[in-house]
Amino acid sequence: MEFQRLKYIYEPSGVAAAKTLLLLHGTGGDETDLIPLARQFGKGFNILSLRGNVSEGGMPRFFKRLGMGVFDERDLAFRTHEMVAFIRELATKEGFDAGKIIALGYSNGANIAGSTLLLYPDFLAGAILYRPMQPFKDAEALQKNHGSANMSDGLIADTPYNRHVPVFMSNGAADPTINPAATKAYAAILTNAGFAVEDHTLQAGHNLTQQDVQLSVDWFKRNFE
Ligand code: MLT
Repeated sequence: MEFQRLKYIYEPSGVAAAKTLLLLHGTGGDETDLIPLARQFGKGFNILSLRGNVSEGGMPRFFKRLGMGVFDERDLAFRTHEMVAFIRELATKEGFDAGKIIALGYSNGANIAGSTLLLYPDFLAGAILYRPMQPFKDAEALQKNHGSANMSDGLIADTPYNRHVPVFMSNGAADPTINPAATKAYAAILTNAGFAVEDHTLQAGHNLTQQDVQLSVDWFKRNFE
Protein backbone atom coordinates (compact mmCIF):
# COMPACT_ATOMS: atom_id res chain seq x y z
CA MET A 1 0.00 0.00 0.00
CA GLU A 2 1.27 3.47 -0.87
CA PHE A 3 1.40 6.33 1.61
CA GLN A 4 -1.47 8.80 1.25
CA ARG A 5 -1.45 12.47 2.16
CA LEU A 6 -3.40 13.52 5.26
CA LYS A 7 -5.88 16.38 5.45
CA TYR A 8 -4.55 19.10 7.70
CA ILE A 9 -4.77 22.63 9.03
CA TYR A 10 -1.52 24.52 9.47
CA GLU A 11 -1.36 27.83 11.31
CA PRO A 12 2.13 29.39 11.41
CA SER A 13 2.93 31.39 14.53
CA GLY A 14 4.92 34.01 12.70
CA VAL A 15 7.72 33.48 15.26
CA ALA A 16 11.08 32.36 13.82
CA ALA A 17 12.24 28.90 15.00
CA ALA A 18 8.90 28.27 16.71
CA LYS A 19 7.87 24.88 18.04
CA THR A 20 4.91 23.14 16.42
CA LEU A 21 1.98 21.64 18.32
CA LEU A 22 0.78 18.58 16.40
CA LEU A 23 -2.93 17.97 17.08
CA LEU A 24 -4.31 14.44 16.73
CA HIS A 25 -8.05 13.98 17.25
CA GLY A 26 -10.02 11.07 18.72
CA THR A 27 -12.21 8.59 16.81
CA GLY A 28 -14.96 10.39 14.88
CA GLY A 29 -13.22 13.76 15.18
CA ASP A 30 -11.37 15.78 12.61
CA GLU A 31 -8.61 18.35 12.24
CA THR A 32 -10.79 21.18 13.60
CA ASP A 33 -11.57 19.48 16.96
CA LEU A 34 -8.52 20.26 19.09
CA ILE A 35 -7.79 23.77 17.83
CA PRO A 36 -9.82 25.53 20.57
CA LEU A 37 -7.96 23.43 23.17
CA ALA A 38 -4.58 24.30 21.60
CA ARG A 39 -5.42 28.00 21.99
CA GLN A 40 -5.38 27.47 25.77
CA PHE A 41 -1.63 26.72 25.54
CA GLY A 42 -0.90 30.33 24.62
CA LYS A 43 0.77 31.72 21.54
CA GLY A 44 4.18 31.60 19.91
CA PHE A 45 4.00 28.10 18.40
CA ASN A 46 2.75 26.79 15.07
CA ILE A 47 -0.31 24.58 14.98
CA LEU A 48 -0.46 21.54 12.72
CA SER A 49 -3.69 19.57 13.03
CA LEU A 50 -4.19 16.33 11.09
CA ARG A 51 -7.17 14.23 10.14
CA GLY A 52 -6.70 10.45 10.37
CA ASN A 53 -6.74 8.63 7.03
CA VAL A 54 -8.80 5.65 8.20
CA SER A 55 -12.59 5.66 8.20
CA GLU A 56 -14.55 3.45 10.58
CA GLY A 57 -18.14 3.64 9.31
CA GLY A 58 -17.52 7.26 8.32
CA MET A 59 -15.67 8.15 11.53
CA PRO A 60 -12.10 9.35 10.93
CA ARG A 61 -9.37 7.50 12.84
CA PHE A 62 -5.60 7.35 12.62
CA PHE A 63 -5.41 3.54 12.24
CA LYS A 64 -7.68 0.49 12.02
CA ARG A 65 -8.87 -1.46 15.01
CA LEU A 66 -10.22 -4.99 15.20
CA GLY A 67 -12.55 -4.25 18.14
CA MET A 68 -12.83 -1.82 21.05
CA GLY A 69 -9.29 -1.33 22.30
CA VAL A 70 -7.93 -4.10 20.01
CA PHE A 71 -5.63 -2.56 17.47
CA ASP A 72 -4.63 -3.69 14.01
CA GLU A 73 -0.95 -3.31 14.85
CA ARG A 74 0.25 -3.78 11.29
CA ASP A 75 -2.00 -0.92 10.15
CA LEU A 76 -0.94 1.14 13.18
CA ALA A 77 2.74 0.75 12.21
CA PHE A 78 1.97 1.56 8.55
CA ARG A 79 -0.12 4.64 9.46
CA THR A 80 2.60 5.83 11.84
CA HIS A 81 5.22 5.60 9.08
CA GLU A 82 2.77 7.33 6.69
CA MET A 83 2.10 10.17 9.15
CA VAL A 84 5.77 10.76 9.99
CA ALA A 85 6.73 10.80 6.29
CA PHE A 86 3.90 13.24 5.59
CA ILE A 87 4.90 15.58 8.44
CA ARG A 88 8.55 15.56 7.31
CA GLU A 89 7.46 16.53 3.80
CA LEU A 90 5.09 19.18 5.13
CA ALA A 91 7.83 20.69 7.30
CA THR A 92 9.77 21.51 4.14
CA LYS A 93 6.69 22.78 2.32
CA GLU A 94 5.32 24.93 5.18
CA GLY A 95 8.72 25.87 6.60
CA PHE A 96 8.50 24.59 10.18
CA ASP A 97 11.24 22.78 12.11
CA ALA A 98 10.57 19.02 12.10
CA GLY A 99 12.85 18.73 15.14
CA LYS A 100 10.56 20.81 17.34
CA ILE A 101 7.22 19.02 17.20
CA ILE A 102 5.18 18.37 20.33
CA ALA A 103 2.24 16.01 19.78
CA LEU A 104 -1.07 16.59 21.53
CA GLY A 105 -3.36 13.61 21.04
CA TYR A 106 -6.68 12.57 22.48
CA SER A 107 -7.70 8.89 22.66
CA ASN A 108 -7.09 7.44 19.16
CA GLY A 109 -4.86 10.45 18.43
CA ALA A 110 -2.92 9.80 21.65
CA ASN A 111 -2.44 6.21 20.52
CA ILE A 112 -0.81 7.10 17.21
CA ALA A 113 1.29 9.67 19.10
CA GLY A 114 2.41 6.82 21.43
CA SER A 115 3.18 4.63 18.43
CA THR A 116 5.28 7.50 17.04
CA LEU A 117 7.22 7.68 20.33
CA LEU A 118 7.96 3.96 20.15
CA LEU A 119 8.75 3.68 16.43
CA TYR A 120 10.44 7.07 16.01
CA PRO A 121 11.85 7.86 19.48
CA ASP A 122 13.84 10.75 18.06
CA PHE A 123 11.02 12.38 16.10
CA LEU A 124 8.87 14.15 18.69
CA ALA A 125 10.27 16.77 21.07
CA GLY A 126 7.44 15.99 23.50
CA ALA A 127 3.98 14.47 23.69
CA ILE A 128 0.70 15.07 25.48
CA LEU A 129 -1.33 11.86 25.62
CA TYR A 130 -4.90 12.28 26.88
CA ARG A 131 -6.65 8.96 27.65
CA PRO A 132 -3.99 6.82 25.95
CA MET A 133 -3.72 3.06 25.55
CA GLN A 134 -0.56 1.07 24.92
CA PRO A 135 -0.30 1.07 21.11
CA PHE A 136 1.58 -2.23 20.60
CA LYS A 137 0.91 -5.23 22.86
CA ASP A 138 4.57 -6.10 22.94
CA ALA A 139 6.04 -2.63 23.32
CA GLU A 140 8.83 -3.97 25.51
CA ALA A 141 9.92 -6.39 22.78
CA LEU A 142 9.88 -3.48 20.38
CA GLN A 143 12.34 -1.74 22.63
CA LYS A 144 14.54 -4.78 23.25
CA ASN A 145 14.63 -5.69 19.58
CA HIS A 146 15.41 -2.19 18.51
CA GLY A 147 17.56 -2.34 15.41
CA SER A 148 17.27 -6.11 15.04
CA ALA A 149 15.47 -7.89 12.25
CA ASN A 150 13.35 -9.98 14.62
CA MET A 151 10.28 -7.79 14.67
CA SER A 152 7.60 -8.10 12.03
CA ASP A 153 7.73 -5.66 9.11
CA GLY A 154 7.57 -2.02 9.97
CA LEU A 155 7.95 -2.52 13.71
CA ILE A 156 11.52 -1.46 14.13
CA ALA A 157 12.25 1.83 15.84
CA ASP A 158 14.48 4.07 13.75
CA THR A 159 16.83 5.38 16.49
CA PRO A 160 17.77 4.41 20.05
CA TYR A 161 15.55 5.54 22.93
CA ASN A 162 17.78 7.94 24.78
CA ARG A 163 16.61 11.54 24.64
CA HIS A 164 14.44 11.76 27.79
CA VAL A 165 11.67 13.31 25.73
CA PRO A 166 9.00 14.72 28.08
CA VAL A 167 5.67 12.92 27.91
CA PHE A 168 2.47 14.00 29.68
CA MET A 169 -0.26 11.40 30.23
CA SER A 170 -3.70 11.88 31.77
CA ASN A 171 -6.13 9.08 32.40
CA GLY A 172 -9.67 8.93 33.77
CA ALA A 173 -10.19 6.70 36.84
CA ALA A 174 -13.76 6.09 35.62
CA ASP A 175 -12.90 5.66 31.94
CA PRO A 176 -14.79 2.52 30.81
CA THR A 177 -12.52 2.06 27.78
CA ILE A 178 -9.31 1.80 29.78
CA ASN A 179 -7.87 -0.61 32.33
CA PRO A 180 -5.98 1.47 34.95
CA ALA A 181 -3.38 -1.28 35.51
CA ALA A 182 -2.67 -1.45 31.77
CA THR A 183 -2.26 2.32 31.64
CA LYS A 184 0.22 2.23 34.54
CA ALA A 185 2.13 -0.57 32.76
CA TYR A 186 2.24 1.54 29.59
CA ALA A 187 3.59 4.55 31.54
CA ALA A 188 6.26 2.26 33.02
CA ILE A 189 7.26 0.98 29.56
CA LEU A 190 7.71 4.55 28.32
CA THR A 191 9.65 5.49 31.45
CA ASN A 192 11.91 2.43 31.14
CA ALA A 193 12.45 3.34 27.51
CA GLY A 194 13.93 6.65 28.65
CA PHE A 195 10.98 9.03 28.20
CA ALA A 196 10.39 11.53 31.01
CA VAL A 197 6.79 10.56 31.80
CA GLU A 198 4.44 12.60 33.98
CA ASP A 199 1.37 10.46 34.55
CA HIS A 200 -1.91 11.75 36.06
CA THR A 201 -5.01 9.79 37.00
CA LEU A 202 -8.02 12.09 37.30
CA GLN A 203 -11.50 11.59 38.70
CA ALA A 204 -12.94 11.59 35.20
CA GLY A 205 -14.25 9.35 32.43
CA HIS A 206 -13.08 9.17 28.81
CA ASN A 207 -14.03 12.79 28.05
CA LEU A 208 -11.50 15.52 28.62
CA THR A 209 -11.95 17.85 31.58
CA GLN A 210 -10.63 21.32 32.34
CA GLN A 211 -8.24 19.63 34.81
CA ASP A 212 -6.60 17.69 31.93
CA VAL A 213 -6.15 20.95 30.08
CA GLN A 214 -4.77 22.86 33.07
CA LEU A 215 -2.29 20.13 34.08
CA SER A 216 -1.04 19.78 30.51
CA VAL A 217 -0.73 23.54 30.01
CA ASP A 218 1.35 23.73 33.22
CA TRP A 219 3.50 20.79 32.02
CA PHE A 220 3.95 22.45 28.62
CA LYS A 221 5.05 25.74 30.17
CA ARG A 222 7.48 23.93 32.53
CA ASN A 223 9.06 21.93 29.72
CA PHE A 224 8.91 24.17 26.67
CA GLU A 225 8.85 27.83 27.65
C1 MLT B 1 -8.47 3.51 19.90
O1 MLT B 1 -9.10 2.79 19.16
O2 MLT B 1 -7.47 4.16 19.55
C2 MLT B 1 -8.94 3.57 21.32
O3 MLT B 1 -9.83 2.54 21.56
C3 MLT B 1 -9.53 4.86 21.64
C4 MLT B 1 -10.70 5.18 20.76
O4 MLT B 1 -10.49 5.68 19.70
O5 MLT B 1 -11.85 4.94 21.16
